[in-house]
Amino acid sequence: MAQDAGDNAVPPVPTVEVGELLPRLDRGEGILLLDVRNDEEHEGWKVEPRRPVETVHVPYFDFIEDTDGSIAKVPRGREVVVLCAQGGSSEMIVDMLGEAGIPSKNIKGGMIAYGLYLEPVRVPLAAAETARYELWQVNRRGKACLSYVIVSGGEAVVVDPSRYIEWYQGFAAERGARIVRVLDTHVHADHVSGGPALARTLGVPYFVAAGEGFELRQPVTPLADGQQVRLGGEKGVSIDVRVISTPGHTPGSTSFLVDGTYLLTGDTLFVASVGRPDLGGHVEEWGRALFDTLKRRLADLPGATRVLPAHYGGVAEISAEGVVWGRLDELRRTVPEMQAASADAFVDAVRGAVKDPPKAYAEIIKVNLGAPATEEKIAEWELGKNQCAAAAKKAAGA
Ligand SMILES: [Fe+2]
Repeated sequence: MAQDAGDNAVPPVPTVEVGELLPRLDRGEGILLLDVRNDEEHEGWKVEPRRPVETVHVPYFDFIEDTDGSIAKVPRGREVVVLCAQGGSSEMIVDMLGEAGIPSKNIKGGMIAYGLYLEPVRVPLAAAETARYELWQVNRRGKACLSYVIVSGGEAVVVDPSRYIEWYQGFAAERGARIVRVLDTHVHADHVSGGPALARTLGVPYFVAAGEGFELRQPVTPLADGQQVRLGGEKGVSIDVRVISTPGHTPGSTSFLVDGTYLLTGDTLFVASVGRPDLGGHVEEWGRALFDTLKRRLADLPGATRVLPAHYGGVAEISAEGVVWGRLDELRRTVPEMQAASADAFVDAVRGAVKDPPKAYAEIIKVNLGAPATEEKIAEWELGKNQCAAAAKKAAGA
């Protein structure tokens, strides 16, 4: 590392935080991204801004073996940011480029920091709703995972939190709210839930339904299908969140209907696809359950219901407002798997569409059921984007 507090210290290399860079890339500000990871890492997991970003890929070892040739590949006169896995080798490249007269900045923490970064987006509610509550979609951009914070009357409920639980605590505090309950839509297979740790830290109820065949090894406050959870009251306003059992993606999958309008679907229904029912080795049985959920259990909900999922396939699914969401009637019309006329056709469609399972999914499920794991292992398992949708169509995202 170049940082040193001593008198003869080399000045620290210029850096940029993911949280500062990503909005600028989203706006298409013409920044050049120099990715110095190896070919496999570069292909496997990319930064995905909302506008295409010009990227030059020159692996770190090329810079070492052929310094001049590699430097010549970096255009001059551009604003350059350098990316690697953890921000270490990119820092050395920033140094090297600086010596060659090319100013650049190191993306602090590299892809690891990108994978952790959480971007809160306020869901635009109708005026009468805004007076009673706030709904925040927290976009974990690097993994395309979505969690939610609902705030009403000085209280907050957190749904599907990532494991960076301090972030949710800080965010609720900033909103002047106390987190009173933590909910998970299901036992996640692509990332480790922060739900149990957040609830334990705060001493508040935690809910997840594992479903048949799964043994939860952590305390849960059960919620029944149809039950209403009240939120708020301290400041004279409150809203209800209705629990809707929506099995299929997993046997215990649950959706939460916020104030009768905003349906947090977890991995049951996405804006361009449906959740994959194959991760338990029961694609037939779970697929039929998912078909029943989509066609029957959600059938009574009005078309104007807004679906807010736990994942998305690519930045194209982020709306102009910055939110990943869709109207239920539109999704009934446009999501390909929703067009299946029978359970058999549906199971065939999802079976044909599923990709490779998420990396280390079996280990992640075990941790989310309550098995211990080291921080190091979890960080390794969580690398890369989610693969939770049944269809791969939009997964490229850009
Ligand atoms: Fe999932």
